[in-house]
Amino acid sequence: MPSEMNALTNLLIFLGQFTYGFLEAIFYMIASKPKKNVAGEIVLITGAGSGIGRLLALRFARLGAILVLWDINPESNQETSKLTKEAGASRVYTYTCNCGEKQDIYRVADQVKKEVGDVTILINNAGVVTGKRFLEVPDECIEKAFDVNTKAHFWTYKAFLPAMIANNHGHLVCISSSAGLVGIYKLSDYCASKFAALGFAESILSELHAERKTGIKTTIVCPFFIKTGMFEGCTTENPLLLPILEPNYVADKIMNAVLTEQAYLFLPKFLYYMLFLKSFLPIKSGLALCDYMKVFDVMKYFKGQIKKD
Ligand SMILES: NC(=O)c1ccc[n+]([C@@H]2O[C@H](COP(=O)([O-])OP(=O)(O)OC[C@H]3O[C@@H](n4cnc5c(N)ncnc54)[C@H](O)[C@@H]3O)[C@@H](O)[C@H]2O)c1
Repeated sequence: MPSEMNALTNLLIFLGQFTYGFLEAIFYMIASKPKKNVAGEIVLITGAGSGIGRLLALRFARLGAILVLWDINPESNQETSKLTKEAGASRVYTYTCNCGEKQDIYRVADQVKKEVGDVTILINNAGVVTGKRFLEVPDECIEKAFDVNTKAHFWTYKAFLPAMIANNHGHLVCISSSAGLVGIYKLSDYCASKFAALGFAESILSELHAERKTGIKTTIVCPFFIKTGMFEGCTTENPLLLPILEPNYVADKIMNAVLTEQAYLFLPKFLYYMLFLKSFLPIKSGLALCDYMKVFDVMKYFKGQIKKD
């Protein structure tokens, strides 16, 4: 009898939480979700020297956050630092770090803990792309893709998550990609590394939930192509459904997702439907749809990752 009572209690608790989750989501479709205050938070952004990393740094600067900027390129990182100070940041710390090297990450992370303090918002944003057919990708590029796009996330979490857990306070932001949701022609190493980054971030989300560390939030970001120069030359045949995104638009959306503690952000919205279609369409129909939408042509004119201001 007591075990039946327990099962009934558990079922009622589950139904209550499940329904609450839905009602809350519906409520916030109508009302805007309150935004958290990040003033005084220590925000670490990897790959802060250009593109999305720089735009996020500027936005956190305006909100009074303490900035820790990492990049492999010291000059562009210094430029970001200058811009963030002009935008109002009073405490900005720049570090040259090769996120493709575990020892470098641990070394710089120790320096950050001593010189700045415990990071409370960790944004793994640094990324590299090769953009070749699989058999043409040099082995070292495959290794680099995993080192920077995936393994760096493991090492930065190892460095900064313990303090977040101890304080039950923090936010982990994983910049994955639409290439972390579907496999794409000429992006085998990139896609695999972005799928892995997403899987890693989602696993930590589940660990934190299981351990009831409710004060540590996760945001996983999967955008389609952005005009930052990383995917220079890439095209879309479906600008209405899959437009090439403006960097400022993406940065605004990411900020909103972080401030409202949204777990997943796919850009544009069509990616949510694409993932749904992928989960049930027969493979032949799915591939026919990709052919029709010329999805396999997107990398046709790819020039390489270039730096844009
Ligand atoms: N641009 C796109 O179309 C697109 C689409 C989806 C996802 N993303 C992802 O968004 C993130 C930001 O990309 P972006 O478009 O701003 O690109 P970007 O090339 O403008 O910026 C990447 C930054 O990472 C830095 N970086 C590269 N290797 C590094 C390393 N080993 N250590 C430290 N820093 C390193 C670069 O110096 C650069 O400042 C990446 O993770 C990328 O994969 C980009």
